[in-house]
Amino acid sequence: MSIRRLPPELINRIAAGEVVERPASALKELVENALDAGATQVAVRLHAGGLELIEVADDGCGMTRDEMRLSLERHATSKLPADAIDRITSFGFRGEALPSIASVARLTLESRVRGADGWRIEIDHGMPGGEGPAALPPGTRVKVEGLFDKVPARRKFLRSPRSEYAACLDAVKRLAMARSDVGFTLDHDGRRILTLAPAEPPVRVAELLTHELDRHGIGIDCAREGMRLTGVISLPTFNRGVADQQFLFVNSRPVKDRLLVGALRGAYRDLIARDRHPIAALFLEIPLDEVDVNVHPAKTEVRFRDPSAVRGLIIGGLRHALDEESGRSAAREQAAAPVMWTTSLPLPHSGGGRGEGLSYSPDGQALPNPSREREGLVAERQRLFEPAPAARAEPAVEPVPSFPLGVARGQVAATYIVAEAEDGLVIVDQHAAHERLVLERMRAAREGGAVARQALLIPEVVELDEPDCDRLEAAAADLADLGLEAERFGPTAMLVRSVPAALGKTDAAKLLADLAAEIAELGGPMSLRDKLDHVAATIACHGSVRAGRVLSVAEMNALLREMEVTPRSGQCNHGRPTWVKLGHGEIEKLFGRR
Ligand SMILES: Nc1ncnc2c1ncn2[C@@H]1O[C@H](COP(=O)(O)OP(=O)(O)O)[C@@H](O)[C@H]1O
Ligand SMILES: [Mg+2]
Repeated sequence: MSIRRLPPELINRIAAGEVVERPASALKELVENALDAGATQVAVRLHAGGLELIEVADDGCGMTRDEMRLSLERHATSKLPADAIDRITSFGFRGEALPSIASVARLTLESRVRGADGWRIEIDHGMPGGEGPAALPPGTRVKVEGLFDKVPARRKFLRSPRSEYAACLDAVKRLAMARSDVGFTLDHDGRRILTLAPAEPPVRVAELLTHELDRHGIGIDCAREGMRLTGVISLPTFNRGVADQQFLFVNSRPVKDRLLVGALRGAYRDLIARDRHPIAALFLEIPLDEVDVNVHPAKTEVRFRDPSAVRGLIIGGLRHALDEESGRSAAREQAAAPVMWTTSLPLPHSGGGRGEGLSYSPDGQALPNPSREREGLVAERQRLFEPAPAARAEPAVEPVPSFPLGVARGQVAATYIVAEAEDGLVIVDQHAAHERLVLERMRAAREGGAVARQALLIPEVVELDEPDCDRLEAAAADLADLGLEAERFGPTAMLVRSVPAALGKTDAAKLLADLAAEIAELGGPMSLRDKLDHVAATIACHGSVRAGRVLSVAEMNALLREMEVTPRSGQCNHGRPTWVKLGHGEIEKLFGRR
């Protein structure tokens, strides 16, 4: 066996495997270069999802002829002054993108510095393809054609132009959010897709996320230990079936970091169903020496020096904001009440559709035509009502005292409480509401430090593999706070002495295994609390007043009063509203009186 040095073309091609996975990743590198060059305007053109053409033109600093030649060499970069790899503020720093892309496509680089003439260099799959003068305004224009045409192994993994285009659009959106001070245009197959003028960050975010966030979003601005988190997140009731609207940034760098995604998820835990996802654009600013950006060739992942501080800031900050809004969240929907009345019945989450699209479509003016999904729902409800409308009514004689959720007037279909408030008609989903109250009661008990634990008559030995035992052992103190006492019992076992009483009869082995897996996945004790929250939510669901149970008026009123004083009672544990209100104005509109 003989060892040899690889020729540069091959080295570049190997690097391209990491840096240029698909058109969107090449596009991302080119736009990043434009931004690093100080561009104020970036124009992107694509053909066939970038498979045929990716072109990025900027009005940045441009390059001289010599700089252009150098830029196409591997590990040549202008971005590491004094080689300070730990203080990187530019998008690029590895000097790999241009030579990598040029090794797997036809690349035309044109550039012009202010006050000089433009120049053009072509590279065809790593081989020089000629150079000469070029006419262009000051700045740089890079054209990439036939990406992976001659690399069948890569070509195979590309998807349809449509989905490659979707990935390109996503890449541009992320960078456009990261740098709202720069103007962007995007053309695909000759059609203008995006025109973004320089703007303040919230305006840019609003332009790129659904404008529904004006009504269904919560602004975030919190700080801790030298870090700051800003941005916008959606109310739990405004969610999606796919996690494609989550834009996360660390020091203005778009990232797809597991820790951050996990923290976002953690903040919504038990406010949103497992298979639904919030919308978010979050910007984390953190001192440069607290984060390492050089951990991934595509630079989309980062490593934090103190991950739990970051997680704490995010979960704590978002949770606080969500709690502040929780009382208002359902009431807020009133803005579109007549439409809400007809459209915002919780859609069945499973079953119909691909689960994309938003839960609400509150911007129709007239009563919308029921969708097929909704017809199913309506039919189901009609079936519920069929035998004989199971409604009972209380005579509305006494004056209405001013309770926000009003006074119970009756129950419909043994499922919904109808109440009269000073300002309108309130309908409560009794099961959803009660489930929420049970969970919040359990949580309050825990926070008050009064977690009831149930000692096991005979301590139970649970066998687990060693890393899992290590994790549980490290978290033992937190677990004990939550009522779960477990101690190390040899290298591959834990001894369980007590479990949270709220769990009732539990499969301790399963609980420990789940907890260990969860710690491994998310890390840190934060997730343990979340985990127990989740378990608690499940129990709450089982222990709560079922739909279909007839309630007395006193019971109904008690439920309403408890809802009024319980945090987060506007949503059930799955993020659906627990009550809706139809204001007097809206009722008048429904009857054409206004
Ligand atoms: N659009 C551009 N405008 C000006 N200079 C550029 C542009 N694109 C690339 N360059 C120069 O080429 C160098 C190499 O680019 P690249 O291969 O992407 O590596 P990196 O961005 O990591 O430095 C950059 O450091 C920069 O000096
Ligand atoms: Mg670069």
